[in-house]
Amino acid sequence: MTKAPGSREGKSSGRGQRDLRVRVKTAKGRKLSSKLWLERQLNDPYVARARREGYRGRAAYKILELDDKYRFLVPGARVVDLGCAPGGWCQVAVGRVNALGEKSGKAVGKVLGVDLQEVDPIAGAEIHQLDFLSEGADQQVKDWLGGPADVVMSDMAAASSGHKGTDHLRIVALVEAAAALAFDILEPGGTFVAKVLAGGAETEMQAMLKRNFDKVANVKPPASRSDSSEKFVVATGFRGRPQADPQADQQD
Ligand SMILES: C[S@@+](CC[C@H](N)C(=O)[O-])C[C@H]1O[C@@H](n2cnc3c(N)ncnc32)[C@H](O)[C@@H]1O
Repeated sequence: MTKAPGSREGKSSGRGQRDLRVRVKTAKGRKLSSKLWLERQLNDPYVARARREGYRGRAAYKILELDDKYRFLVPGARVVDLGCAPGGWCQVAVGRVNALGEKSGKAVGKVLGVDLQEVDPIAGAEIHQLDFLSEGADQQVKDWLGGPADVVMSDMAAASSGHKGTDHLRIVALVEAAAALAFDILEPGGTFVAKVLAGGAETEMQAMLKRNFDKVANVKPPASRSDSSEKFVVATGFRGRPQADPQADQQD
């Protein structure tokens, strides 16, 4: 069978086929981990596509793929993007919710992004530097947004500690903080999207989401690297008011 040009050539090193992967020489002073990272970047089709299509990073394709499936970034939607640097998700949201009013006759949305790091401005998005785990951060976001949200999305991830368990607990803390904001500001029918790591400690949060949203899906979009334990929870159809956990009430 004839393969489509470039189909899987990069992965194959079979007899008679050229291996087209870019290989990086180990330069003096370059660690093996940096060499592998560089090699992965150079060979990643999403990295090349992001460069071609003007996105600030390959992460943009994760939210594009999630939205293609669940359709929450609609014209007129008001979106909060937590952990937005360098800005790929914001760029996608600005276009899809029509934050610049470019789609005539369609409702104009709003995109508010926050991150620990400074982010270069993105036309159509309001971006603030903020540690979302700091005291009063959620109130600050509410003040900036100035009204309810239709979508709360979080790609927040703490810098890796190198210890899987610690990293997992950190990301659970970030997801819980994002979910608390979602419960507070989402319109009924709203959507919550958040990055989680496979690992088990988030069971309680999943149960909480199931009580408060019509549907809760755990998804690994194609753009998420297969060797990464990240996945995304997509909770749609917010029911409007957090339901108390009856078991928690009994224990009090
Ligand atoms: C994977 S990146 C996000 C990529 C982004 N979605 C994009 O498309 O460009 C994760 C981000 O989470 C941010 N982050 C981690 N902890 C945070 C916190 N406590 N408050 C705000 N942002 C945080 C990091 O600074 C980092 O920029």
